[in-house]
Amino acid sequence: MDRLDKIIASQSAKGRKEAQKLIKSGAVRINGEVCKKIDFKIDVSTDKIEVNGQALRYREYVYIMMNKPAGVVSATEDKHDKTVIDILPEEFRRKGLFPAGRLDKDTEGLLIITDDGDFAHRMLSPKKHVDKKYIAKLDGEITEEMIKKFEDGIVFADGVCCLPARLERFDGDKMTAVVTICEGKFHQVKKMFAVCGVNVVHLQRISIGNLYLDSKLPIGCCKLLTNLDKELIFIGNIH
Ligand code: URA
Repeated sequence: MDRLDKIIASQSAKGRKEAQKLIKSGAVRINGEVCKKIDFKIDVSTDKIEVNGQALRYREYVYIMMNKPAGVVSATEDKHDKTVIDILPEEFRRKGLFPAGRLDKDTEGLLIITDDGDFAHRMLSPKKHVDKKYIAKLDGEITEEMIKKFEDGIVFADGVCCLPARLERFDGDKMTAVVTICEGKFHQVKKMFAVCGVNVVHLQRISIGNLYLDSKLPIGCCKLLTNLDKELIFIGNIH
């Protein structure tokens, strides 16, 4: 059982004060009855809450798929740039959200935003080896030698070794690659290609584990993950 104002505040970007104002204004109904008591005790599993006539579906945590656009940074706040949290549509906003993992400012594609720290930790832990798949447009051709190098584990100039990765041609296109890595080193994909003497001119993440970016989700848009979507992240990885 929890206080009504606390529950309403936890489900949006509204603060406790705003939630209290809303309750006092008569905009909140509990099980069909207007409730103006800010500290009314609620059982989220059984009580039906409505705010301004709309049912409030209580979620302890949320898991958001964003098709990240280029030009925003994967952070909660930034002095210079817009962040992925800044561009969240209103209906997804609530306190405590953060990007689970990072894409570079110029990288597009699948990003998970959540307020569940344990889930993010599980997804990002190097021990879990969750695959991430990228489509990389290159300024040079993919060679058999490069494919072998990726397979053997690329070594950066500073001696840092990458785990074996898969490099494939995208639809037979010699200058567009599908890369699968199971770790998340800083600028990893760009640096792996740089070792092979080619530059990445466009990068898009298309999957994490077996969860693929929804091809119908426009760039910059978001949708909530289902429980099945969440499970897909952790099944069927290459290592
Ligand atoms: N590798 C990169 O180089 N950049 C990204 O954004 C993700 C992986």
